[in-house]
Amino acid sequence: MDELISYLEKTGVIPVVTINDPAKAPYLAEALQNGGINCAEITFRTDAAYEAIKHITRTGGDFFAAAGTVLTTEQADKAADAGAKLMVAPGFNRYVFTYSRDILGVPFIPGVATPSEIDLVYSLDQKIVKFFPAEAMGGIKYIKAVSAPYNMMKFMPTGGISPENLGDYLKLKQVVCCGGSWIAPKDLIEAKDFGEITKRAAEAVRIVKEVRG
Ligand code: 3PG
Repeated sequence: MDELISYLEKTGVIPVVTINDPAKAPYLAEALQNGGINCAEITFRTDAAYEAIKHITRTGGDFFAAAGTVLTTEQADKAADAGAKLMVAPGFNRYVFTYSRDILGVPFIPGVATPSEIDLVYSLDQKIVKFFPAEAMGGIKYIKAVSAPYNMMKFMPTGGISPENLGDYLKLKQVVCCGGSWIAPKDLIEAKDFGEITKRAAEAVRIVKEVRG
């Protein structure tokens, strides 16, 4: 887990992707890589997620493919089978979390939005959580407030992150990286506008470098 946290810290951003056509996945990965981002969270909001992750893990070299919106053990099985190196969920489902992390052996970052959820996750020896939906729940102010009692926790804020606020989140030492759909939104993938995705990835990388060096 420490290795994963270091990797995510170095990356700074992880694009959250919803893809309908798995054939576009390798082009998407390439577009992100051209902009300097070597990872993506492919969400299980579409049936294409399994094939999309598989395409990327089979052809994308060292591209770091995570599975997102993993809500069931069936999706966790599929994500692991496709080769996902990480699973992420918007909320905390203890069964899916422990099944993925402890039975399948794939790291899992569950979503939290309250101190009680952070507490529960911490009791399972997990020190990194997705903070979702970050902006709607109070954003930076909220992270600072919950970090007083939970100063051992690391956060991956997601939900409402954009180039405008990315830098401010990354300045917090509790923030490992930020997730967000703005880099590779569904409409750009559908339109095969991979040039714009590369541009957005490069801009995100520029912000990460500006803050973290
Ligand atoms: C997620 O699943 O993490 C969110 O849908 C991403 O939120 P965003 O669209 O506000 O970036």
